[in-house]
Amino acid sequence: MDAEKAIFGRRSIRRFKQIPIPIEFLKKLVDAARVAPSGANLQPLEYIIVNDKELCDRIFSALRWAGYIKPEWRPSEGERPTAYIVILVKKDVSPFSDIDVGLAAENIMILAYSYGVGSCMLGNIDRDLIREILNIPLEYHIHSVIALGFPAEKSVVEQMERSVKYWRDESGVMHVPKRKLEEILHINGF
Ligand SMILES: Cc1cc2nc3c(=O)[nH]c(=O)nc-3n(C[C@H](O)[C@H](O)[C@H](O)COP(=O)(O)O)c2cc1C
Repeated sequence: MDAEKAIFGRRSIRRFKQIPIPIEFLKKLVDAARVAPSGANLQPLEYIIVNDKELCDRIFSALRWAGYIKPEWRPSEGERPTAYIVILVKKDVSPFSDIDVGLAAENIMILAYSYGVGSCMLGNIDRDLIREILNIPLEYHIHSVIALGFPAEKSVVEQMERSVKYWRDESGVMHVPKRKLEEILHINGF
């Protein structure tokens, strides 16, 4: 898949087929994060792959899903992620770590999508619980989690009118409003 198709086609996916992702592919995703741009090349990020079923179940309990969908929603038992990549930031290494995370996470999600693997970045997470489950030392900040799996839902972009809130239609398709290009783009000055 070419880069353009991957960039425009990727959407957050929150329902997954229960088919395992090969560990070599999960490692390749972290390798893609490893080569992302890094402010001052300080490289403060580390990653934990979680693909053990029991650990995945425990991590799932630390995640909050699709906050705009009401009533409160989460993937049901047979549609949960089959793997996670937990993004860690080694403390006091870089003032640019949040930017590094964004770039690394996008590399992971774009590469995953280009191989047919769906993903969702999650920042609304119980960090204390994840630290305990995965034995993460206190020198690391738990930044976010990327949920992964083969997609079992469809999500499409809509032109944003009034609201940023995504919605699900009656057939289960997710619709994600994005601001118009004309609204965000300024050429040769504001
Ligand atoms: C920093 C960050 C944190 C996010 N946290 C969550 C989260 O906790 N739970 C969730 O379901 N989605 C989360 N998302 C996914 C966003 O809701 C999603 O990217 C947004 O609605 C746009 O949809 P798209 O990814 O399909 O373009 C997060 C995304 C980012 C970039």
